[in-house]
Amino acid sequence: MSKKSDMHKQRQAIKAITEGMTAIPAGAGTGKTSLIIEGISAVLASSRKGITTSSKILAVTFGKKAAKEIKQRLKDAIGDKANNVIASTLHSHAASIVRNNAKVLGFSKQFSIIGDDAVIRALKRICASQNLSLTEKQLDEEYDAIELFKAKGLFPNQIAPDSEYRLKQLYKELQETLMSANCLTYSDLILYACKAYEEQYEPDGQWEQIFVDETQDINPAQYAFIQYLAGKKANICMVGDDDQCIYGWRGADPKLMQRFTKDYSAKICSLEQNFRSTGCILKAANSVITNNSDRIQKELFTKRDNGQPIRVQRLSGLYDEACFIAKYIKKRLKEFQGSKKKS
Ligand SMILES: Nc1ncnc2c1ncn2[C@@H]1O[C@H](COP(=O)(O)OP(=O)(O)O)[C@@H](O)[C@H]1O
Ligand SMILES: [Mg+2]
Repeated sequence: MSKKSDMHKQRQAIKAITEGMTAIPAGAGTGKTSLIIEGISAVLASSRKGITTSSKILAVTFGKKAAKEIKQRLKDAIGDKANNVIASTLHSHAASIVRNNAKVLGFSKQFSIIGDDAVIRALKRICASQNLSLTEKQLDEEYDAIELFKAKGLFPNQIAPDSEYRLKQLYKELQETLMSANCLTYSDLILYACKAYEEQYEPDGQWEQIFVDETQDINPAQYAFIQYLAGKKANICMVGDDDQCIYGWRGADPKLMQRFTKDYSAKICSLEQNFRSTGCILKAANSVITNNSDRIQKELFTKRDNGQPIRVQRLSGLYDEACFIAKYIKKRLKEFQGSKKKS
């Protein structure tokens, strides 16, 4: 028996968004980002108390490119009404909160945001000043462990007393060094933004509705930050796919979606119809992801036909894979342009 279309489920989800807290666990290509776009239009069109203007709606995601895509898709859907909706990354919000509270947090407003390499260099200098000789591998491990503390929202003075002494000391020294150099890492932005809220930042109740795309990639510190952003007023809609979590090694926890449903008694609207891929691709994807442990059970289906069979190509590494795909796309584009000219 063929599965019923999920379109009615999408409509139910949009209704739920206009009514309150909503969690949308859904697979790849099921229209998660489309739902955010439609959800924003629906919230604007609804008479829900409080939502008077699009400037009270915030959509956050990971990466500037994804945020830009939301803004563009929203513009295509609702035109000028989209102008005041804020679509951005969690980190850019955190940065502006840290900037507004820089002094009380121990920084100056002109702080720099630094990447992994600069932090590793700082750690190396700290080790050298303490006559601590660590191999590159050990240094990387210490750095990863520090990042995991940050992902959990823990400052050095908040980590368990039984944690390894050297790691704790390194973390403490690192934070002091970064602060005196007026530098923050991306994970620091979230940590300090939460601290600003905890200690003195007055939430201005700016947001009435918050959408979170790619929720599977958030970590507990980011979840806490979203809760601060929402305050007591805003409704939250979280959209994500636990099978697509790519930042687990950095502390992202796809289970936070489940925690959200409990913390806020959120309505769960799941989606399984894939609108993007052919049957053959979906079948292969299903049989791969079914091996993931501890996942929310879902079986993606499509109404599209099987399409072309999948071609398997063994290649020797990331670079070769990228080149192979780029060449293939180039070839197909040429073929496509050639056939367009003919017709
Ligand atoms: N109800 C629908 N009917 C037809 N196509 C849809 C529907 N919802 C989404 N799509 C299309 O499916 C594709 C995947 O949607 P997207 O929102 O990017 O999915 P996801 O964020 O879940 O990966 C897009 O091309 C989108 O336009
Ligand atoms: Mg998406």
